[in-house]
Amino acid sequence: AFIGPPGTGKTHLAQAFGYECCRHRMKTYFIKAAELRDKFTIARRAGREGALLTSLVRPSCLIIDEVGHCEFDKANTRLFFDMVDRRYNKEGAFNMIFTSNKNPSDWREIFGENDALLCSLDRLFDSASVFTFRGESFRGKHLENYTLRAEHSASTTQDNPLNH
Ligand SMILES: Nc1ncnc2c1ncn2[C@@H]1O[C@H](COP(=O)(O)OP(=O)(O)O)[C@@H](O)[C@H]1O
Ligand SMILES: [Mg+2]
Repeated sequence: AFIGPPGTGKTHLAQAFGYECCRHRMKTYFIKAAELRDKFTIARRAGREGALLTSLVRPSCLIIDEVGHCEFDKANTRLFFDMVDRRYNKEGAFNMIFTSNKNPSDWREIFGENDALLCSLDRLFDSASVFTFRGESFRGKHLENYTLRAEHSASTTQDNPLNH
């Protein structure tokens, strides 16, 4: 898990890791958490959860970006942890990377309340490496600031251009 404030390079590093996985011929899949939630919702409506889970379990490396930017309801939380469990039990590489602005201890608020699933969250972080990103944001380095000041000159009726 890559945890830290915005702009500190979490997505950048996750993508770099994904790129290296590809170079090692490992199937890699990158998705934002909000897109994943939408995919879960659409698949549930269509009764195609199984096919979606299979496609999410297959890649050797799965990167889920921006965990915590959106909430998962109970049904989507169940699918999320089905996915995690199946990846844990699968043969071969099952890397997962999560990036988030929120500490894992606060992730319970993101996922729908359900004790069994919260236990899964504990299991997930039992054997995880958590990298905490600190420092200034990389963003805004090329930002240019200008200060404009409005000045009201004491103009007489005579030199006011609007009167000419
Ligand atoms: N190590 C780095 N060196 C130079 N630029 C970087 C580095 N890490 C990130 N960036 C750039 O800084 C910006 C913010 O990085 P990003 O990974 O999107 O941050 P986060 O995901 O933590 O919000 C991006 O434009 C990214 O390309
Ligand atoms: Mg990011």
